[in-house]
Amino acid sequence: MWGGRFASGPSAIMEAINASIDFDKRLYREDIAGSIAHAEMLGRQGIISTADAAEIRQGLETIRTEITEGRFAFSKAREDIHMNVEARLAELIGPAAGRLHTARSRNDQVAVDFRLFVKRAAEDLDRALRALQEALLARAEEHAATVMPGFTHLQAAQPVTFGHHCLAYVEMAGRDRGRVRDAIRRMDESPLGAAALAGTGFPIDRHATAEALGFREPTRNSLDSVSDRDYALEFLSAAAICATHLSRLAEEIVIWSTPQFDFVRLSDAFSTGSSIMPQKKNPDAAELVRAKTGRIAGSLVALLTIMKGLPLSYSKDMQEDKEQVFDAIDSLALALAAMTGMVSDLQVNAAKMRAAAGAGFSTATDLADWLVRELGLPFREAHHVTGRVVALAEERRVALEDLPLADLRSIEARIGQEIYSVLSVDASVASRTSFGGTAPDGVRAQAAAWRERLASE
Ligand code: ARG
Repeated sequence: MWGGRFASGPSAIMEAINASIDFDKRLYREDIAGSIAHAEMLGRQGIISTADAAEIRQGLETIRTEITEGRFAFSKAREDIHMNVEARLAELIGPAAGRLHTARSRNDQVAVDFRLFVKRAAEDLDRALRALQEALLARAEEHAATVMPGFTHLQAAQPVTFGHHCLAYVEMAGRDRGRVRDAIRRMDESPLGAAALAGTGFPIDRHATAEALGFREPTRNSLDSVSDRDYALEFLSAAAICATHLSRLAEEIVIWSTPQFDFVRLSDAFSTGSSIMPQKKNPDAAELVRAKTGRIAGSLVALLTIMKGLPLSYSKDMQEDKEQVFDAIDSLALALAAMTGMVSDLQVNAAKMRAAAGAGFSTATDLADWLVRELGLPFREAHHVTGRVVALAEERRVALEDLPLADLRSIEARIGQEIYSVLSVDASVASRTSFGGTAPDGVRAQAAAWRERLASE
C-alpha cells in the first residue's frame, strides 16, 4: 500500500509489532460502512466516476459478506483492517479500488471506524444497564418492607429495607447511564474527511458523509479529528465507574451469601461447587464481577497513559487504544449480564435479615430521637443518655427493647412505657419518612417513580 519509496519489506519483528489485524478486524463493519459513505460521496462530488463508486460499493458489500461468513483470509502482511479490506477490494474489482482512498487517510479512516464502534458499544452499555435497573427494581418492589440491617463501616448502623438498598443501585446505574449518554452526545461527530491531518484539496462533502454514517455533524478541526481519543477515554471512564458500582454490589452479595450472614442464597445457575468440599456453594460469579473491575479500570489508566504527552496529530501509539476498549466492552458486558442474572435469581432470606436488623443496638438513634421529641432534650444530650443505655444493655447482654423500664429510668427518669414502641426495627424504618428515606411507603414511591421513568424512555 505504501511500497513506492521502499526497497525491501519489513522485518518479521517490525511486522509483529506493527500489525493490528488480529484485533482490529473487529472494526470491519464500521470500516466498510465508512468506506461506502466515502466512495458514494466521492462519486456524487464528481471526484471519482459514479460507475467506480458503484463498483467500490458492490465490492465492499461482497467483502462484508465474506468476513461475516468467515470466508475472508486476513493477512498480517496487510497490517490492519483498513489495508486488508482495500487489498481484497483490488482483487475483486481491479483498478477502481485504487480510487477509494482519494481524499482520505488511514488516520481519519481509523478515527471514524473507532468512533462508530465505541458509539455502538456505548448504546449497548446503556441498554445492559437498563436491564440491570429493571432487575433491581423488581426486587425493590417485592422487598419494599423487608427489613435488613443498614451498615456503616460494615457495622450495624440503622435498620433499612432491602428494597431501599436495591434502589440505591438503581440510582447508581442511572448515573452510569447518564455518563454513557453524555459521552455519546459528545462523540457524535464525524472525523471522516480530516484526511491525514490537514484536510484535503478535493471538494469533499463532510456533512454528507457525517449524515450517511449517522453522526450529528462533522468535527471542526482536522488536526483534532485524527488525534482525538476522548470518546474512548470517556467510554472507559464511564465503564470504570460502572464496574466500580458492580464490584460493590458483588462484594455485598459475597458477604450476604456467607453462612454467617445468610441474607441471600444464590441460585445454582450463578454459583459453583468445590472439588473437595461437598457442602460448598461459592459465589464465583460475584467474585469475578468484583475482579473484572480491575481490568476495566486498568484499561482506562492504560489509555490515559498512552495518550498522555502525545504531540499532535496522529501517532502510532494510538493503535494501542483498541485492545483496551475491546477488553473493557467485553468484560463489562459479561459482568453486567452476570449481575443482572444474580439479582433476578437471588433468594432473599427475609427472616435472617430481620433478625440481624436489630442486632448491634441498631435502634439507638430512634431512642435518642424519642428523647429529643418527647422530653425536649438537645440532641447531643439525648445522644449521651442513649449511649449510657446502650452501655447498660451491653453489660446485661440484652437488646435495647429487652431492658426493663426500671433500668431505663435509672438513667433518665422521665422515660415512659411508650419508649418500647420506637425500639422495634419496623417502627424504626417506618419512621424514616423524609424524602429519600427508607420508610416502606417512601421506597414504594421511589420504585414507582423509577418504573415510570424507565417506561417513558
Ligand atoms: N492501524 C492503525 C491504527 O489503528 C491505522 C492508522 C494508521 N495510520 C498511520 N498513519 N500509520 O491506528
